[in-house]
Amino acid sequence: MEKIMVAPSLLSANFADLKSDLEKINQSEADWLHLDIMDGVFVPNISFGFPVLKYVAELSQKPLDVHLMIVQPEKFIQEVKKLGAMMMNVHYEACPHLHRVIQQIKEAGMKAGVTLNPATPVSVLEDIITEVDMVLLMSVNPGFGGQKFIPNTLKKIEQLREMITRNGASALIEVDGGVNPENAPLLQRAGADVLVAGSSVFKAPDMIKAIQELKYVE
Ligand code: DX5
Ligand code: ZN
Repeated sequence: MEKIMVAPSLLSANFADLKSDLEKINQSEADWLHLDIMDGVFVPNISFGFPVLKYVAELSQKPLDVHLMIVQPEKFIQEVKKLGAMMMNVHYEACPHLHRVIQQIKEAGMKAGVTLNPATPVSVLEDIITEVDMVLLMSVNPGFGGQKFIPNTLKKIEQLREMITRNGASALIEVDGGVNPENAPLLQRAGADVLVAGSSVFKAPDMIKAIQELKYVE
């Protein structure tokens, strides 16, 4: 089985010493750096914005996986592009014209991801699955780090994997929220390609080891 990819989520980093946390991520086997942008409207919290991310992007040697938990994410496609992001994830629930937004992200030269909240069934993606580079399944309600993994996500991963195969699509499956070394093997077995991990990486005594533990699940 291929090694699963890991994308540490900066939301749980030490913001008083971001540089040292970013250096550790650079040294680690992390595949991407996951950046959570919140607006206090789509989700009940506000995280960080572009003035901070500009410096994060300069320091990070890992490809940037940007997760926008905001209304009207299409307004920020150029800003995300300017960061040098590899992937831009928008929420299905925030995009009435999802197909157009996906095309715009790709036209801007980034990979396009669509994110589903825990209560949104994967079936809503049936008509767009061949167009997206990744589906990000939320395994907690978005807005905060450190929440408990919702077990129903495992079923959603399996359903999504089946949909991807049936449509001959190539979308990656990423899982975000409450990921830890205990559930990582289950997520991989269900069909996940990328694991986002905030608190289980940044609150660990040894971040580099914590990332390794998530990667070598089989
Ligand atoms: C939550 C964010 C997550 C968060 C995950 O809304 O999308 O990326 O940082 O944190 P943990 O891994 O602590 O659940
Ligand atoms: Zn996220």
